[in-house]
Amino acid sequence: MTQAKTGNVLVELRGVAKRFGATQALDSVTLEVCSGEIHAFVGENGAGKSTLGKVIAGVYSADTGELVVDGMPVDRWNPGIAQRRGVAMIAQELALVPDLTVAQNVFLGAEQKRFGFERNNLSERLLKLDREVGFGLDPQAKVRDLRIADQQKVEILRSLARNARVIVMDEPTSSLTGKEMRQLEDLMRKLRDRGCCVIYVSHFLDSVLDVADRISVMRDGRLVTTVETAAVTKHQLVSAMLGREMEQAFPDRVTDVDQSVEPLLRVKQLQTQTGVEDVSFEVRPGEIVGLLGLVGSGRTESVRAIFGVDRPSGGSIEFDGQSWTGHDAKRSIDAGLMLVSEDRHHDGLVLQRSVRENIALASLGARQKIGWITGRAEKHIANEYASVLGMRPLNVELPVGWFSGGNQQKAMLAKALAARPKLIIFDEPTRGVDVGAKRTIYELITRLASEGLGVLLISSEHEEIMELANRAYLVSDGRTIGEVVPEHTTVEQVLYQLFNVLPEQESAA
Ligand SMILES: Nc1ncnc2c1ncn2[C@@H]1O[C@H](COP(=O)(O)OP(=O)(O)O)[C@@H](O)[C@H]1O
Ligand SMILES: [Mg+2]
Repeated sequence: MTQAKTGNVLVELRGVAKRFGATQALDSVTLEVCSGEIHAFVGENGAGKSTLGKVIAGVYSADTGELVVDGMPVDRWNPGIAQRRGVAMIAQELALVPDLTVAQNVFLGAEQKRFGFERNNLSERLLKLDREVGFGLDPQAKVRDLRIADQQKVEILRSLARNARVIVMDEPTSSLTGKEMRQLEDLMRKLRDRGCCVIYVSHFLDSVLDVADRISVMRDGRLVTTVETAAVTKHQLVSAMLGREMEQAFPDRVTDVDQSVEPLLRVKQLQTQTGVEDVSFEVRPGEIVGLLGLVGSGRTESVRAIFGVDRPSGGSIEFDGQSWTGHDAKRSIDAGLMLVSEDRHHDGLVLQRSVRENIALASLGARQKIGWITGRAEKHIANEYASVLGMRPLNVELPVGWFSGGNQQKAMLAKALAARPKLIIFDEPTRGVDVGAKRTIYELITRLASEGLGVLLISSEHEEIMELANRAYLVSDGRTIGEVVPEHTTVEQVLYQLFNVLPEQESAA
């Protein structure tokens, strides 16, 4: 393993191990991180990325092994010492004081006591710091009033105010929009160019491949390999994360769809107040149909109107042989039309309630049809779906909010399935989900179709539609502009159409 170093080694781990009860979270990890690099940690959920970050930042101490900072082994290491030595972590759970202002949070505990007079100028100091990174935060805003993305920026400024040279960012993009993600990537580059080491923990592999200089792949507590980003493909990364080949990332396409059967769902010239102008498509039983489009193209708005969250303002919808208008979400579910939406926190799950209760909530319609189901039967059904989906831990009595993102997504799917739908709409079913859980979700989608359900799939990872769907429609600016058979086309061709550029123009440019 060659490691062409970009700068000086700032932090080095030698044979670090960390155990939690029966779990070997880290197993003899040896690693160097350097100044002037963005160093990504990737791996499936539970691989040990956060634990590794926390050992570096002093949140956890290693059971065995050595931590070397600036070339000297350290014997005492905790968050306070780490901070003084320039090592900071932006954890997944942010640690801000909600009632204090942005400026107060940033400089909390970092006041320069020798220059006491400066304490009165927190706002000015904040603006000066902020100008360097271009966040545009209001120094006087209360942190509790900020969106998560902005709170994250406050945390980043906090670490900069302490002259951090090593900044561990643990899944910083998971709650950001596409635009905010680009901004954060730019910031990481800026920090790197200033000589910092940014440790970027993320499961967004495209983003990692875009910004990282080096990538360390973790699997089951071990550091499998550290590679130069330029020397690795996404395919190789995923294979290293999974310990198996990526061809297996997608199950075989379900191909025997009878195109002469009446469609389950027929949408004609759909219009909404929310930006859908003219969307038409059909889904047959047993068919996986994709909606391909860029973020903001009107895909989500279309399915919200079909499901009954928003009201259509024009066009027609037919579901299961009936004209489907004047409906709401509850009537849709009762009739067998289900939406699994991208926003599992706001539309989907009651986080404080158990997985079983969430599933019971959804199956109310089905339950009314087949008679009363006892609590025990309810638990049985919940268990069955949770185990098919491989929820970990497999305990349906735990509150949904307790589970990791990937497992929450599985709970959402279990809930949708328990309602026994005829057609399921999946809107970004794998967002925020690690590679292993993705595979489970793909298998589930394929299985549902092969059992005769209609599936409508929206995904910004176009590859998912290209690998799973039988047919796909292109959606742009609120309109369906074409139809493709993914098996006979490429992602590039689709993107050319969505961006409205011809391949010739592209190559001439
Ligand atoms: N504080 C903890 N107590 C018990 N087990 C933990 C703790 N932190 C992490 N683990 C376990 O250690 C393993 C690695 O977890 P983590 O580092 O969070 O993985 P990743 O960030 O790659 O998803 C997992 O099996 C996790 O359940
Ligand atoms: Mg983690």
